Amino acid sequence: MLNKLYSMELPFAESYRIKMVEAIRKSTREEREKWIREAKYNLFNLRSDQVFIDLLTDSGTGAMSDHQWSEMMLGDESYAGATSYFKLKNAIEEITGFPFFLPTHQGRAAENVLFSVLVKEGNVVPGNSHFDTTKGHIEFRKATAVDCTIDEAFDTTLAHPFKGNVDPVKLEKVLEKSGDQIPFIIITLTCNSSGGQPVSMENLKMVRQFADRYKKMIIYDSARFAENAYFIKKREQGYQDKSIREICLEMFSYADAMTMSSKKDAIVNIGGFIGMRDADLFRQASVFNIMFEGYVTYGGMAGRDMNAVAQGLYEGTEFDYLETRISQVEYLGHRLMDFGIPVQRPIGGHAVFVDAKRFLPKVPKEEYVAQTLAVQLYIESGVRGVEIGTLLADRCPISRENRYPNLEMLRLAIPRRVYTNNHMDVVAVALKNVFDRRDEINHGFRIVREAPIMRHFTVELDVI
Ligand SMILES: Cc1ncc(COP(=O)(O)O)c(C=O)c1O
Repeated sequence: MLNKLYSMELPFAESYRIKMVEAIRKSTREEREKWIREAKYNLFNLRSDQVFIDLLTDSGTGAMSDHQWSEMMLGDESYAGATSYFKLKNAIEEITGFPFFLPTHQGRAAENVLFSVLVKEGNVVPGNSHFDTTKGHIEFRKATAVDCTIDEAFDTTLAHPFKGNVDPVKLEKVLEKSGDQIPFIIITLTCNSSGGQPVSMENLKMVRQFADRYKKMIIYDSARFAENAYFIKKREQGYQDKSIREICLEMFSYADAMTMSSKKDAIVNIGGFIGMRDADLFRQASVFNIMFEGYVTYGGMAGRDMNAVAQGLYEGTEFDYLETRISQVEYLGHRLMDFGIPVQRPIGGHAVFVDAKRFLPKVPKEEYVAQTLAVQLYIESGVRGVEIGTLLADRCPISRENRYPNLEMLRLAIPRRVYTNNHMDVVAVALKNVFDRRDEINHGFRIVREAPIMRHFTVELDVI
C-alpha cells in the first residue's frame, strides 16, 4: 500500500499540450544593430522575422485552441442576424451578465463607438491609469482623463496586492470638483498602465457606491477581466471558493457598460465588443457602430471570428488556463528579481514591468529611459519589449510639453499559450546581461519625427 506521507506533490505543468508549432529565428548582434538603426530605434518598425522572442504585446498574439479553430469553420457569414452573433451574445451574457452587446473590430473601436455617444468637449473622465487608446479617445474629443489610481501603484518596490485600485479620496475630489462634466468613471481591469495590476472586488464596490451617490455611469475597460478575477480569487478574502465565472459576474454587476479588446482574455487575434445594460444606450451606440464598424450583428467582425471569441471567452475564464498563464508571467518576474533587476511588484497578470529609472539611473529622463532599455534588450538578444513611459505618455495637448509619467517602464508582455519557460529563461538572462553593463549606458535618444497624438507607434529616434 502506498504511504501518502512519502509521496511528493506533483510539480506544476501547463494545462494544454502543443499541436502546431511556428519556427522562430535567432540573429546576430551585428544584424540587430543594423535593423534597429534602420527602424529609427522604434521597435514597432521592426519586421517580426527580425525578432526572436516577441514580448511587444499580449494583444492578439495568443495561440487559439483546437476548439477555437473548429468554431472558425462553423462561422456564419450572413450580413444580418448571423448565428455567430447570437453565439457570441449568449457567451457575453453568460460571462458578464450584460444583455446588450455590439461587436467591434477591436478594443479601441469599442471605445470610439461608446465614447461617441458619451464623451463631449470639456468632459472629465476619472479612472485608474487609463490605457493609451482610452486616453487618446477622450483627449481626441477635447475631454480630460484624470488618474485616480492609488499612490502605492507608483512605488514599484511595494508589494500591494491590488495596485490597480482607485483611490477613494482622489475620486471623490474629482467628482466634487467636476461633477457636471463627468459622463462616467472608467475602470481598467487589470490596470495595464500600472503593470497589469488587479482591482479588488471591494474597490469595485466602493466605486459603485460613489457612482450611485453622484449618479454616474461606470464603464469597465475589460481587456483582462479574467486575469483580474483570477487575482481576486487568489488574493481577496471570501473569494477562494468561488469560481472565476462567479467572480466575473459579480465584478460586472457593479458596472453599467464595458468595452472589450477580445485580443487579450478572449484569446483571439482580432476582435472587440461593447457590453451594456441599458437598452437606450445600446440604441444610441448602434448608430455609431453602423457608421464606424458595420451592421449591429457583425460590427467589423467575420462570423468565424465571433465564434472564436465566444469559445475564447469560455476558455479564458477557466481556472486551470489562468493559472498556467499567470504562473508563467510570475516565473519570468521571479527570475528577473533573482538577478536583482528592479520590477513592478507584485508581478502583474499579463506582463513583467521593468522599472527603467531604477535600472538605468544615469540616462536623463529627457532621453527616454525605458525606450533606451528596450533597444538595449533587443540588441542584446532579439527580444522585443515595449516602452511604457515618456514616449507613450505623449505631450500635454495644451502646452505640447513632454509629460513625464510617474513610472518609466519596459513592459515584457507575454502572449497567451505561445512561449515556454525556456523562452522566459532566455529573456531573463538577456536582461541580466544588460543589467551587468548598466553603468556604461549613460545616454538615450532624441526625437527626430513624431505624430501629433499616440506618437509612440510611429516615432523616429536617433542616438544622442
Ligand atoms: C487595457 C486596454 N484597453 C484597451 C486596449 C485597446 O484594445 P485594442 O488594441 O484591441 O484596440 C488595450 C490594448 O492593448 C488595453 O490593454
